[in-house]
Amino acid sequence: MKKKSKLNPTIFVIFGGTGDLNKRKLAPALYNLFTEGYMPEKFSIIGTGRTKFTDEKYQQVILENVNEFSRNGKVKDDSWKEFGTNVHYSSTDVTVPETFEGLKTDIEKYQKEFGPETQVIFYLAVAPNFFPLIAECLCKYKLTENEDNSRIVIEKPFGHDLETAKELNLLLSKIFTEKQIYRIDHYLGKETVQNMMAFRFANSLFEPLWNRNYIEHIQISVTEQLGVGERGGYYEGAGALRDMIQNHLLQLLCLVGMEAPISFDANEIRDRKVEVLRAMRPFKPEEISTNAVRGQYSKGWVEGKEVPGYRHENGVDPHSNTESFAAVKFFIDNWRWQGIPFYLRTGKRLNQTSSIITIQFKDVPHHIFSSRATETWQQNRLIISIQPEMSIRLQVQAKRPGVKMVLNPVDMVFDYKGTYDTDTPEAYETLLLDAMNGDQTLFMRGDQVEAAWELVMPIINTWESKKSLNFPNYPADSWGPEEAEALIARDGFHWFTLPLKDKE
Ligand code: BG6
Repeated sequence: MKKKSKLNPTIFVIFGGTGDLNKRKLAPALYNLFTEGYMPEKFSIIGTGRTKFTDEKYQQVILENVNEFSRNGKVKDDSWKEFGTNVHYSSTDVTVPETFEGLKTDIEKYQKEFGPETQVIFYLAVAPNFFPLIAECLCKYKLTENEDNSRIVIEKPFGHDLETAKELNLLLSKIFTEKQIYRIDHYLGKETVQNMMAFRFANSLFEPLWNRNYIEHIQISVTEQLGVGERGGYYEGAGALRDMIQNHLLQLLCLVGMEAPISFDANEIRDRKVEVLRAMRPFKPEEISTNAVRGQYSKGWVEGKEVPGYRHENGVDPHSNTESFAAVKFFIDNWRWQGIPFYLRTGKRLNQTSSIITIQFKDVPHHIFSSRATETWQQNRLIISIQPEMSIRLQVQAKRPGVKMVLNPVDMVFDYKGTYDTDTPEAYETLLLDAMNGDQTLFMRGDQVEAAWELVMPIINTWESKKSLNFPNYPADSWGPEEAEALIARDGFHWFTLPLKDKE
């Protein structure tokens, strides 16, 4: 029998109801939440957009989207029938405030039908230049006044730089209270990323070692095989620092670097995370060239197919100065992490799609084994693999079986696939459910977003003001520019990768 959710009746308004994010992520996530019994008993999903659709036509569109993109494959007839009747459409042009009149009428209709407890969630899955317009219209039409029952979910990018992020925060704070604002970073909804909290704070084993006394350095590497594809227009104004490091990678760094929270309360956790960002060493302009590397891909071959260089992608300037790769060495200036480098790297069109965090421990203080016994010697490492493999590996030295004392590194592995037979929800399923539950733990608070922008702004400013003379500087299907290897090799380390079982 299907589980029954205790959630209050919910109206889910999606701005960008005909857009790509809704098609690929939101609609399938809502449907999967429904089939698994997590949706409220009474709910209504209202897609909005400029196109004119009847409810029936829109339901058809959403059905096709779910069939194409749901992790569970095609819908089941009976559950779709039940779900589909809750899907509606309200034609709204966010640049024409009067069109919010119709949306308000639709919302009020369901509010009346569902009762006074009904909550309304406005999801802004549109280009960021529409965020202020929509927020202002919601305010004008008094759709956000009940702070317990109305929420706004904002997609990234949250601002284009520190200044615009501050402006957006200021504008939102005039209309909403912070507890109504849900700034999405979908990495925080990933199963393995959430597990980092459990791993660190539900085990007593690691915490005593989790500091500068035992850890030598940390790497956070999010590499992608795909290029910018059809998103060249957006990416050209963003680049790898804005697109990935300012948000996803710095959030991962916060989870690795944070102090232990006193409870699992959303603000307590977000306080601990923002402390990490505040403790990070700011860059002086003259330090950037030794601590940060940028790259841009040229054409190459990926799995037997020729792929264009970044400058030849749709929507990209043929002389573009935008980086499709970035590697940065950060420090956290506090008692726990003083002097320990955190190397972050991300890029498109790299050799492998993989997100891993590697924690390398210091070497043993004294070697007792002969050099013959230790030819493959390797310091202990903890590797948290976020995707595509979902695992945590502890690499230790062990004696190889045989009559001689020969050591080699072995992995102690916790692998999701081998341990659990339940499916992993998509990040958006977790995050949408949290938004309906009013749980902000996995969402970014305003001060967090600003602290992250503040940290990366000196690099962005330097890179934008000085055009790179060697772009493009890495071929598609490589590991990025040579300078990125040099950045870490100067300190005696190298970037780790996991051998992929099934190359994506
Ligand atoms: C998005 C970026 O936020 O994250 C994309 O805008 C990137 O450029 C994507 O490809 C990566 O997300 P995931 O979940 O595929 O690792």
